Amino acid sequence: MKADNMIQFFFLCFFSVSVLNLSAAQSPIPSKYDGFVYRGGSPWKNSVIVDAFFDPMCPDSRDSWPPLKQALDFYQSRVSLLVHPFALPYHSNSFASCRALHIADNLNASSTYPLLELFFKYQESYYNAPTYNNSRAHITAKFSKIAEEAVGKGSYANILSGFSDSKTDMAARISFKYGCSRGVMGTPFFFVNGIPLPDYGSALDYSKWKSIIDPLFAEKK
Ligand SMILES: *[C@@H]1O[C@H](CO)[C@@H](O)[C@H](O)[C@H]1NC(C)=O
Ligand SMILES: *[C@@H]1O[C@H](CO)[C@@H](O)[C@H](O)[C@H]1NC(C)=O
Repeated sequence: MKADNMIQFFFLCFFSVSVLNLSAAQSPIPSKYDGFVYRGGSPWKNSVIVDAFFDPMCPDSRDSWPPLKQALDFYQSRVSLLVHPFALPYHSNSFASCRALHIADNLNASSTYPLLELFFKYQESYYNAPTYNNSRAHITAKFSKIAEEAVGKGSYANILSGFSDSKTDMAARISFKYGCSRGVMGTPFFFVNGIPLPDYGSALDYSKWKSIIDPLFAEKK
């Protein structure tokens, strides 16, 4: 082996070992199952569980929420919803908005869904072109202000400091990694009782939700 070849050989060995190591790396295991439970409580006691992966900065996620909410109102406790924030890389500020949901959830568990709705309401001012010139600090302050509306008056400083707490960063990463582990490729992305629904990335209307969920109750009888 010539010196050049030796170098190539060692590089190849080193590279293969790194790749093998990566594939064996353990993703962090959270202390509790990922997701925000709609209306709180435990999702497991109910017969039908919907997992929804939403990006708060995604217009399709926004559009899919009202009909899903309507379906949840109809089924009440017979259907549980777990929302997992999933930051898409092509929506700027998305990761910060996902992190804000974890921060809000820690400070006031009743504020998570109201904050998600506020992000849906204001998202057009925050993703991509409109914030092209804004710094990360600016966005963090804006999002903290929005979150204060949901978490409660006077919570601004706590929310803002939540953005420098590594635990909330980790929580938002875990939500993302959890989505990756289940093959989530866009938002909204839904699973019903663990089974992925086709046509991810677009809203399902109320009658579509009914047509998916009604037969599950018929089967149970
Ligand atoms: C960003 O800054 C540039 C240069 O000052 C300006 O031309 C552009 O209109 C700004 N964009 C936005 C969305 O504010
Ligand atoms: C927690 O959030 C909910 C929903 O936004 C709000 O109604 C409630 O007042 C908040 N709690 C406190 C202590 O501010």
